[in-house]
Amino acid sequence: MTQQKTYLVFGATGQTGQHFTALALKQGHKVRAVARNPTKLAMTHPDLDVRQGTVPGVANLDDLLQVVDFVVCMLGDRQMQKQQKVNTAFVRELVPAMRRAGVSRLLYQAGGLSKPPGRQLPPLFRVIRNTVARSYIGQHEDNEAVMEYLTQEAGDLEWMVHRAGIGSNGSSKGVLERSSTSASIGTFQDVAAYNLATVADPSAIHTCDLSSYRKR
Ligand SMILES: NC(=O)c1ccc[n+]([C@@H]2O[C@H](COP(=O)([O-])OP(=O)(O)OC[C@H]3O[C@@H](n4cnc5c(N)ncnc54)[C@H](OP(=O)(O)O)[C@@H]3O)[C@@H](O)[C@H]2O)c1
Repeated sequence: MTQQKTYLVFGATGQTGQHFTALALKQGHKVRAVARNPTKLAMTHPDLDVRQGTVPGVANLDDLLQVVDFVVCMLGDRQMQKQQKVNTAFVRELVPAMRRAGVSRLLYQAGGLSKPPGRQLPPLFRVIRNTVARSYIGQHEDNEAVMEYLTQEAGDLEWMVHRAGIGSNGSSKGVLERSSTSASIGTFQDVAAYNLATVADPSAIHTCDLSSYRKR
């Protein structure tokens, strides 16, 4: 049996976050979910603790981090991120709070089209980002600022970034594995399963990798 862990989840009401929360609970873990609108999380469970909070400026962050093993952020608000880097502002609050609470492991979900620090996107990714995915530019720039901040200023924490490529809310297409070069269009539930496995994987620490379906 897997050892029970406690996850502090931001973005639990989102498309990835709902699958993540359900899966973590199904595997016997505890989830403390922070949601700006808790009624959107349409599930109850004895091991699920839902708290109201909006990023940045989450109240009682130090309390939320008590007795937590892993922090997982699956946050995004495309409209808001066009105006300001809200996720970066939040991560800049979260990291010092994690240090204060003695919590070191963080998984942050970004996108495959968000450029990791010190690297270029492949030409095809650049074309997609600047054409069909152009309306997500604010989200990518915010994610990139988060990766930059974590790389430059949070080397003492065990952070990892999942540059997810998500396509649909369909059923599982297989198992996603970490890759520095190859990306798959995943389903939300496969991306959530990847996040759950990867946050516990020490080999993913300080990576900003993509995910790709395991070859059958
Ligand atoms: N969706 C994709 O195809 C895709 C592809 C590649 C990468 N990504 C990356 O993965 C991230 C998550 O994707 P997703 O599709 O699962 O996201 P999503 O369905 O849009 O959900 C985003 C989550 O963030 C929460 N949130 C947004 N702004 C907040 C705020 N200010 N305070 C508190 N909570 C806030 C939302 O709460 P509410 O429920 O209240 O809105 C929701 O729970 C994206 O931001 C993006 O960077 C997504």
